[in-house]
Amino acid sequence: MKAGVSLGLAIERVAHDIDAQFDHILALPGDPRRQLYEAMRHAAMAGGKRLRPLLVKATCDLFNIDGRAASRVGVAIECIHVYSLVHDDLPCMDNDDVRRGKPTVHRAFDEATAVLAGDALHTMAFEVLGNEETHQDPFVRVELMLELARAAGASGMAGGQMMDIEAERASFDLATVTRLQQLKTGALFSFCLEAGAIMARVPPEGRTGLRGYARDIGLAFQIADDLLDVEGDAALAGKTLGKDAGAGKETFVSLLGVERAREQAKLLVQQAKDHLHVYGSEADLLRSIADYVVERDR
Ligand code: IPE
Ligand code: IPE
Ligand code: MG
Ligand code: MG
Ligand code: MG
Repeated sequence: MKAGVSLGLAIERVAHDIDAQFDHILALPGDPRRQLYEAMRHAAMAGGKRLRPLLVKATCDLFNIDGRAASRVGVAIECIHVYSLVHDDLPCMDNDDVRRGKPTVHRAFDEATAVLAGDALHTMAFEVLGNEETHQDPFVRVELMLELARAAGASGMAGGQMMDIEAERASFDLATVTRLQQLKTGALFSFCLEAGAIMARVPPEGRTGLRGYARDIGLAFQIADDLLDVEGDAALAGKTLGKDAGAGKETFVSLLGVERAREQAKLLVQQAKDHLHVYGSEADLLRSIADYVVERDR
């Protein structure tokens, strides 16, 4: 089977599985909390590339981790990602009207509901990881929760979002923009690889290649997002583009220009794949994901 074919199939399967899980954990209650659940379903279901759960699955495949565990960790990281998108789109942040080809949550509902939907998705991630259905070993569950908290908080995604806001006012250099992107986007990607290693009980010294891969594709992914913002197709992307330049935001593209940014992304993808040299064909899905991260059009 060609790599491209198996990647497409893997994306489809993960998307189907994540939707089924959200449908289950976000069953509508018959009480006044209903609107909150409707908003969470609107944000979380039927949309998105599901790239982070796919990375969890690909890493778990490497170590023959039980599919059920991979899929629960996948839904947990997607909860954090979706929460970050709901809040990122709010009027006080990027003020966006469209996400995943649908009205943003504060547009479809209202701002208070969007804030609460984000909050509830955020905590739901930890509820999923803390449940023994995710892993029978409580030490593994605690490590997963700790790593996710680190990746999502001030030293990860939320910290990166703060720097991203600052990037509209300050003139950051390349090193600072790199750190910004590593926190804003890279930290959640790194969690996906780390989670597989935690469940497989790979000792820290055995995680170097996976960590290098995660760091490189995280950066390549964000460069691709910034490139799409400049030259992508809004209908395909399912969101408003041209926002970064409009906001005067410092990104890889503003600093390097389109051509050099694209070259840099390709270089990072090659470097990411080089980090996997110790693995055989069991890492092919991770290799295909690395290519997809920069070749995608949405
Ligand atoms: C968009 O992430 C936000 C960034 C971190 C740049 P994705 O491009 O993975 O969004 P979905 O999940 O496919 O909608
Ligand atoms: C958002 O980055 C990243 C997070 C939500 C952590 P962007 O603001 O660039 O994402 P898009 O372009 O709106 O998807
Ligand atoms: Mg933003
Ligand atoms: Mg945004
Ligand atoms: Mg963007």
